Amino acid sequence: MIQTKWKSPSNIALVKYWGKHGRQLPRNASISFTLHHCHTITEISIEEKKVDGQISIDFFFENKKQDQFKSKILSFLNSILSEMPFLVQFHWHIHSSNSFPHSAGIASSASSMSALMACICDLEKQLGFQKEGTDFLKRVSYFSRLASGSACRSVYPLAASWGQSNYLPLSSDEYASPFDADLHIDFHDFHDDVLIVSRNEKSVSSTVGHNLMHNNPFADIRYEQADLNMKLMLQALKSGDIEEFGRITEAEALMLHALMMTSSPSFVLMEPSSLEIIKKVQNFRKETSIPLYFTLDAGPNVHLLYPHSVEEKVNQFISAELSQHCDQNQVIRDFVGKGLEKL
Ligand code: PMV
Repeated sequence: MIQTKWKSPSNIALVKYWGKHGRQLPRNASISFTLHHCHTITEISIEEKKVDGQISIDFFFENKKQDQFKSKILSFLNSILSEMPFLVQFHWHIHSSNSFPHSAGIASSASSMSALMACICDLEKQLGFQKEGTDFLKRVSYFSRLASGSACRSVYPLAASWGQSNYLPLSSDEYASPFDADLHIDFHDFHDDVLIVSRNEKSVSSTVGHNLMHNNPFADIRYEQADLNMKLMLQALKSGDIEEFGRITEAEALMLHALMMTSSPSFVLMEPSSLEIIKKVQNFRKETSIPLYFTLDAGPNVHLLYPHSVEEKVNQFISAELSQHCDQNQVIRDFVGKGLEKL
């Protein structure tokens, strides 16, 4: 039996991807930090099966058969069959587990889809079906994007961009590109602590959310702003300008939520506790001059971003002032990480 095992992290967007077209192509370029602790480990073993033109898989999540995920994965694999015809030649045993509690309200599609595609692309290579000279990470990123847009950014260490941008010569809508070489050293050990405000599933799936951008009255302005924010964010990430980085990061998070609030139907995804935390973070920064910034995904949980040098002071602040706003005081501590890893 041939097998492989990969670990892939989640990522947190600084300039957000919100709005897509065609076959999972982004309306604007985005950039994210790759995380470390929040990851998925996926192991796949394959055996030859009789040729019947069907893809056949078993899917276990944390050692339990999971039929809902299985059917999602099957329909995705069918959608890429013309690009990976060997999928029908084998039976695929897939085992997956997450490092973070699955009831924490943290999206796991970025880590799970990139871990899955790393395994499949690795087996494609081992079986001799991959063209000589293929850029492995680019291929994993390409297929991860088809599975779940922002997942394509998870494969690269430290930071990655996705989406064609005039400010990034090698960028593409089809796959992410690494940004580690240009990232200022002060961001290499940046922290991202996730304050779990609610463990509930998202009330709007990202597919529905992206589609609402088609009729959002602010869509064109958003894409212009995203382009400008990419330009400024890239400069800040290169020069190590943490204040400018924080200003744009927070503006992006609030704009993402403003877009959801101004969609039809509209969604308010922040909870009162999310706002309490945001206000406290802004006041803390004003009073102490400690560079602590927030961002949000498409949900109520608040990510806190800060440099390693202020870890102790931020920890004290979280314990004294912020964890009380979290569901069961839950805070997931994370930091910038290395990207895909073969185990
Ligand atoms: O990759 P999706 O379709 O789950 O969309 C992700 C959207 C955001 O997390 C809100 C922003 C981003 O760029 O990651």
